[in-house]
Amino acid sequence: MRPLTRRQLLALGAVGAGAAAAGGAGLWLTTGNGPGFGYTGGEDLAEPQVLASRGGVLELDLTAAPARIQVGGREASVQAFNGSLPGPTLRVRAGDTIRITMRNGLQAPTNLHVHGLHVSPQGNSDNPFVSIDPGGSFDYEFTLPEDHPPGTYWYHPHRHGHVAGQVAAGLYGAIVVEDPDPVPVTRDRVMVVSDLSLDASGNLAEVDQMQQMMGREGQIVLVNGQLRPQLRAAPRERERWRIINACPSRYLRLALEGQGVRLLSRDLGRLPVPEDVTEVVLAPGNRVELLVDTRGGSSTLTAAPVDRGSMNAMMSGAMRGDNVPGGDPVELLTLAVSGSAGTDPGPVPEGQPLRDLRNEPVTAARTLDFAMGMNGNMSGGMGMGSGQGTMMAFTINGREFDPERLDETAAAGTVEEWTLANSSPMDHPIHLHVWPMQIIQDGGRDVTRPTWQDVVNVPARSQVKVRVAFDDFSGRTVFHCHILDHEDQGMMATVQAR
Ligand code: C2O
Ligand code: CU
Ligand code: CU
Repeated sequence: MRPLTRRQLLALGAVGAGAAAAGGAGLWLTTGNGPGFGYTGGEDLAEPQVLASRGGVLELDLTAAPARIQVGGREASVQAFNGSLPGPTLRVRAGDTIRITMRNGLQAPTNLHVHGLHVSPQGNSDNPFVSIDPGGSFDYEFTLPEDHPPGTYWYHPHRHGHVAGQVAAGLYGAIVVEDPDPVPVTRDRVMVVSDLSLDASGNLAEVDQMQQMMGREGQIVLVNGQLRPQLRAAPRERERWRIINACPSRYLRLALEGQGVRLLSRDLGRLPVPEDVTEVVLAPGNRVELLVDTRGGSSTLTAAPVDRGSMNAMMSGAMRGDNVPGGDPVELLTLAVSGSAGTDPGPVPEGQPLRDLRNEPVTAARTLDFAMGMNGNMSGGMGMGSGQGTMMAFTINGREFDPERLDETAAAGTVEEWTLANSSPMDHPIHLHVWPMQIIQDGGRDVTRPTWQDVVNVPARSQVKVRVAFDDFSGRTVFHCHILDHEDQGMMATVQAR
């Protein structure tokens, strides 16, 4: 891989401008949740079907297939699990076994990943190397340890080369691991946030190379497959919102003005004491659980644009912050609070203190460099096709993903410190399967409170130090950028615990 020259960068810029002129597919696509895009919104929020475990087991069939559904008042041809977007919500407990017969009704290979679950990466468990051919099926079995952290997780396809396209097409669903000590709330809601681009006839819009390099962002942003849905509540109630960022590339800077909002969980487990927040940022793949203490009036959950770097920054040498994408915040949903006050659900009990790997011996340290550079020859592969080969190379320690290669080996049962270094002009949200990461240092700043996530954003030209406890399981899995177009283009590597 060679670094980009200025001339090549200017050529890339020209491609971007051309694409924008040709089809409105600019670097920062304007999002149209507002009126005037031919969609209608404002229905009551619906939730996907809930499938809950019984007697320690949850068994289901999941079929990934093309589906014809209604989105924002329009007919849309998407891809969905069991015909619904999102797919069913799976509710389980620590210690449970989930058995899924996954069928592939698509034209391309696929598979299934249970994002964030701490389960084995081997065999027919959370094995990202499985590939299910069109027309084929595969029997998965995931067993959660007895001490699995509660929280909000999700599932989506993970077949390398097809991940961004299949997630963007509508293949995702929520997984809830119930709290052993429930938090008293009036209502518990799952909200899967996704984005989608349709063409004039309601088919999935084509994606060009520039969008793949940037990471595609859909034109409309949906909650449970709905456009700007509406919620109703009474004053002085408490709701628990489990929000999943299932967008392939879009970051969400969420705010809900006029309500009492506390952060209960980020990705996994729960905070010992919920924290008051005015906004939270979710990179692709991240989840939050918010406690909303309702107050009379009408509030809108908004997602403001996030500067995640750009190729423009590469061209002009601009600093971070010079490229804040324009546009107003996207309206995700509205909450109307009226009527007589509900009954006070009572105080939130304190949760368990979080494990702190800074107090445990570290047996190995490694540095992983996430980089972008030129791939081959600028004149090749400049078409508007939707293949995965673009002119950029997305690498980890200089190499593109190879499923046959073993990149890192950790001793099972030990703690390692990983420096996630981003030498590129774009942010990369880094995700490790099976084992969550404790953030130790972000940029130059020490993170003093135990902070656990399974997707950690590494800002452009910056680095983040994390620690990982390779507990409970052995086997080989992957870590990667959760801008799924970057993952498909090679920003993924393998790690084995043994
Ligand atoms: Cu959410 Cu490896 O993925
Ligand atoms: Cu994952
Ligand atoms: Cu990336």
